[in-house]
Parts: sequence; structure tokens; C-alpha cells
Amino acid sequence: MYEVTLFPGDGIGPDLVRSMKTLVLDTMKLPIVFDSYDVGLTSYEKTGEVLPEAALDSFRKNHVALKAPITTPIGQGFRSINVSLRMAFDLYANIRPIQAINHLPTKFPGTDFVIFRENTEDLYIGEETQISPDEAVAVKRITKHASERIIRQAFEYALAHDRAKVTAVHKANILKLTDGLFLKVFREVQKDYPTIKTEEIIVDNCSMQLVMRPEAFDILVMPNLYGDILSDLGAGLVGGLGLIPSVNKNEDYAMFEAVHGSAPDIAGKDLANPTAFLLATSMLLDHLGMKEEAKDLKKAVYDTLAEEDSRTRDLGGPLGTLAFTDKVKSRLTRDR
Ligand code: NAI
Ligand code: MG
Repeated sequence: MYEVTLFPGDGIGPDLVRSMKTLVLDTMKLPIVFDSYDVGLTSYEKTGEVLPEAALDSFRKNHVALKAPITTPIGQGFRSINVSLRMAFDLYANIRPIQAINHLPTKFPGTDFVIFRENTEDLYIGEETQISPDEAVAVKRITKHASERIIRQAFEYALAHDRAKVTAVHKANILKLTDGLFLKVFREVQKDYPTIKTEEIIVDNCSMQLVMRPEAFDILVMPNLYGDILSDLGAGLVGGLGLIPSVNKNEDYAMFEAVHGSAPDIAGKDLANPTAFLLATSMLLDHLGMKEEAKDLKKAVYDTLAEEDSRTRDLGGPLGTLAFTDKVKSRLTRDR
């Protein structure tokens, strides 16, 4: 039995979790026990805490978590729970596969790349200073340590997944010290991976190339800010945030989630598209070693989306969360 920490989240989170459990537990009957904890708004309303220690302890024990989107209560003193979790566990690698889904309307059917975003430093350390009422500065921190580990992750992933090329995205022509250091580390690390092609590209040019010929990219590795921006650009290439899964990880811990938020506007209305969360679940199964099961789940979701009349409303289809889940379920029972 695999024990996995589950954060059912807020808003549409519980709808997504219900869909996931129907498929993974009731239909596929996989040997997983979910250790479930409220975090975020739901937890805050019940206990006054957004990130209870028991939830952190469970993740500490299990090393693997599946997280539905959480609402960060608006008000003073609340740091983003996502940022808190990443920092508490030093989940330095944010990995986002951007892949066109067969037959879904997209102008870029050949899109299939993976973004490795550094998750712990760059401008996101939050060191800002108000110099005067008319002037403020922010610190951009880049270290050899943080750069090396994310770059190595990218190369290791390329080896493990038969990817041919790793591209470093930077702005070292202007930021000679910070992005210059990132690039220097990239050039050092690549020597350990002689079979993988490498490429360096300036972030503005990269943005244009991604939109003109996304099929030319394979693995991209970059500091935090560029990763944040380019992963949303990537989501736009293939049909929106509702389709993109991700993982935040390091050598010991992995937390899987959808890229989108808790969508309070459609919560509890049976309108949520569970695709991104189910694809995140597929990544989790792969991580746990259930490779075939991971492929089966992903294929069932993709094949369901291939039919126009079995899509959810956000993709122009007629189905709600439950009916879409049923379609995926019947594919899983038929095809397995
Ligand atoms: P959002 O991603 O929740 O929603 C943006 C728009 O996309 C909304 O119109 C929503 O209805 C739609 N949408 C999102 N996911 C969908 C899905 N699976 N199916 C169908 N439609 C979907 O972003 P928003 O509104 O900026 O944030 C809402 C809350 O989510 C905030 O409290 C924010 O802090 C939180 N959030 C949490 C994240 C996480 O836990 N990883 C990530 C981003 C935001
Ligand atoms: Mg973002």
C-alpha cells in the first residue's frame, strides 16, 4: 500500500478530489491510502489555521502529496500557502509538462515541452525596499547551489525520459552577474551529460520562438520569474490552465498539483474540469512507480477529450465534472 498525503483544498478542490478517487480507487482499484488534511480557507474557517502542523507532519512522513487548489484568505498576514509549502520543504524544482492534447482545438498541435522552473530564489525571495516614496528596489538572488540543482534535475529528467535537448533560458546579456551565474553553472553541469544537446536562449527571444515554433523545444530550464511567466505562456499554447499539471519537488519530497487555482466562481456547481488534477494524479502514479497505471489514466483522459461531446464546458463541451468523470471511467473499464 502506498500512503499519500492529500490536501482536498478549497473551491473546486473537493469536486476534483471526488473525480480522482472515483477513477483511482473505485475504478482502477490502486493500492493507495490517502491521508487527508484540510489546509487553506476550509481549514482556517474550522480551526483558525491555514496550514495545520498535522498536515505538514503527514507530508513529512509520507514524502508524497497530492494537493488540490487552495484559496489563500485575503487579508493581512497571510503568505501564499503554496509559497509556504515550497519553502517549508525546500521544493526547489517546479516541473510543468506542456503538451498539446490530441484533437483539442489548438494552433500548436506539435507542442510537447517541459518547463523546469527554479522555485526558491530569484526575485521571489520577497526582499523589496522602499528607497523613497518615488523609488523602490527588489533583490534578485541567484546562487550556484540553487541553479545547479534545478539544472541537474532538468538533465536527469532528459535522460530518464529520452528527451534530446535542454535549453537554458536567461537574460545574461543584461543581468551579467545573476543570470550570468545561472548560465555559467549550466555550462558546467552540461559536461556531465554529453549525450544531451544543449542550447542557450535569451528570454525575450524564447517567448517569440515558443509562440512561432513550440515544437522546436524539449526541456527548458530557467530562474524563477521566467519560469512563472513562460509556463503560463505554454499553458496558453495548448488550451489553458485547466489542462496543465505540475509537481513541486526535491530529492526527498514531491507535491503534485494542477496549475490552476480554486475557481470559487464555479465551486460546487459541477462545472470544474478535472483534467489538470487527473494529469497531476497520473504524474503521482508514475512517481510512485505505477508507470503503466499512470499511462492508462492519462490515455483515458486524453481519449475522452478527443471527442467533442465528451468535453467539459470550459472547453466548449456539454459535460459537468461528474459526467466527464463517468466518460473517463468507462474508458478505463473498457480499455484495461
Ligand atoms: P483560478 O485558476 O482559480 O480561476 C481562473 C478562471 O479559470 C476562473 O474563471 C475559473 O472558473 C477558471 N478555472 C480554473 N480552473 C478551472 C477548472 N479546473 N475547470 C474549469 N474552469 C476553471 O484563478 P483565480 O481566480 O485567480 O484564483 C482563485 C483562488 O485560487 C485564489 O484564492 C488564489 O489564491 C488561488 N490559487 C491557488 C493556486 C493553487 O493552489 N495552486 C494557484 C492559483 C490560484
Ligand atoms: Mg504563475
